[in-house]
Amino acid sequence: TTKLIIDTDPGIDDAMAIFYAAAAPDIELLGLTTIFGNVTTKMATRNALRLLEAADLDLPVAEGAPKPLVLPPFEPSAHVHGDEGFGDIPAASPKGKALDEDAADFLIRMARAHKGELVVCPIGPLTNIALAIQRDPAFVKNCKRIVIMGGSLEAGGNITPHAEANIYHDPHAAEVVFAAAAGKVTMVGLDVTLKILCTPADFDKIKERSPDLGGMLKQMSVFYIKFYQEVANLNGCSLHDPAAVIACTHPELFQTRAVPVTVAVDPDRSGATLETDDSRGKTHVAMDVDAEAVKALFLKRLSLLP
Ligand code: BDR
Ligand code: CA
Repeated sequence: TTKLIIDTDPGIDDAMAIFYAAAAPDIELLGLTTIFGNVTTKMATRNALRLLEAADLDLPVAEGAPKPLVLPPFEPSAHVHGDEGFGDIPAASPKGKALDEDAADFLIRMARAHKGELVVCPIGPLTNIALAIQRDPAFVKNCKRIVIMGGSLEAGGNITPHAEANIYHDPHAAEVVFAAAAGKVTMVGLDVTLKILCTPADFDKIKERSPDLGGMLKQMSVFYIKFYQEVANLNGCSLHDPAAVIACTHPELFQTRAVPVTVAVDPDRSGATLETDDSRGKTHVAMDVDAEAVKALFLKRLSLLP
């Protein structure tokens, strides 16, 4: 099994990824760390606790950075994930609370405790990962892999013509990660996630087989798919965050290219992930995917949930 920590901004497809990890027999989820992005960091923490409670999982949640490394704090836009992050599912307070330790310290401690075994899967902006790298020079070495949902080499952006949302929201943090951790990093970005489309009929199936948690995902997906319909005229949504979690255990379903990656921070193309020719290590960038197999795994494993 893969020892996994998901760094997340839940978020509708984040919820899908976390429930997938909860169901996957080959994943040992060690906890969640939270970050702004789809929602504020505070809301991300609340939502992460809510998802774990819904899945009946008693796992640690460590709250992450409140704002990007360099850019000013921003207001998340509610049109993609809803005011509270879960479409039109109303706000609710979780019973549990986050650790006293912050996300970067928790990541550092867990990477030390599970030296060479921990896979970190960031599915939001990379601020916490950059802070862990800056605070502990051994962090990268202690991790087995860092599998990121974010970026794009050839597919263009989704928040601007050039940038993918997770990278765009903290490009300086992403640059720290691609510069310092490259050899350990797999980038699962829009080049592959846009190829994996989950339709309303798929979510009906998920709900039928898993009425509680699957039902929750179905409800969220209605809001999410409405957004995809409006902006891209698609009858379905991309499985961005679940794809990254699946890449942690099923790398054979992805074709990667080893490329040194840098992140643009100039105003014109801020957040763009670009191939560079400097001597930094190479990131494993997913360029193609067996989309049917990823989707089949997603549907199959979610059906294990109540
Ligand atoms: C990424 O941005 C967020 O809106 C999603 O949760 C995903 O992590 C896709 O670009
Ligand atoms: Ca996300």
